[in-house]
Amino acid sequence: MQPYQKFLSEVLIPEQELQERIRELGKQISEAYTGKDLHLICILRGGVMFLTDLMRSISVPHSIDFMAISSYGAGTRQASGHVRLTMDLRDDIQGRNVVLVEDIVDSGYTLASVLGLLATRNPASLKVCTLLDKSERRETEVSLDYVGFEIPNKYVFGYGLDLDEYYRDLPFIGVVNEEKYTPPED
Ligand code: IMP
Ligand code: MG
Repeated sequence: MQPYQKFLSEVLIPEQELQERIRELGKQISEAYTGKDLHLICILRGGVMFLTDLMRSISVPHSIDFMAISSYGAGTRQASGHVRLTMDLRDDIQGRNVVLVEDIVDSGYTLASVLGLLATRNPASLKVCTLLDKSERRETEVSLDYVGFEIPNKYVFGYGLDLDEYYRDLPFIGVVNEEKYTPPED
């Protein structure tokens, strides 16, 4: 038995389904950005697996960059524009066609904050591609341009998403067994 198995209640999205959907998203993005300069921005660390597979499905030339942000504790969530960066982008995004690549949108606060910040830097366009959307949990409105999967209100891990920093490497999205693992409040 693999160590992660005791935390897993079910596989929500198996590897093949993930990969097929990512290929479709890559195709859609390639069509939308044909003849345009495309710049992908990934929020560390959860989006990394998705970014690298998505890139291999995008057939138009594109560049990438990374940013990291602090996560606020419960009850201290900030509205758009108040995200605290722990690692900024390397490159300027002014005049560029940016697609923000996210692992999961839950309440929407993280995304709203990051979008608010990026918008102040005057990109030519700013779109969002998220692998997972827990839309039931939304607390602030955010518009999502590309969505891999709508998922139910369950705590998930694998494929970039961690359990206390482990198991990001799993090739599938699994539902956490809440009897064996207590997810963070926020
Ligand atoms: P939001 O600000 O509530 O939308 O939260 C987004 C962030 O919360 C994501 O980038 C993840 O880091 C984390 N998150 C939300 N739901 C899950 C989950 O089910 N598993 C792992 N991380 C999650
Ligand atoms: Mg996280």
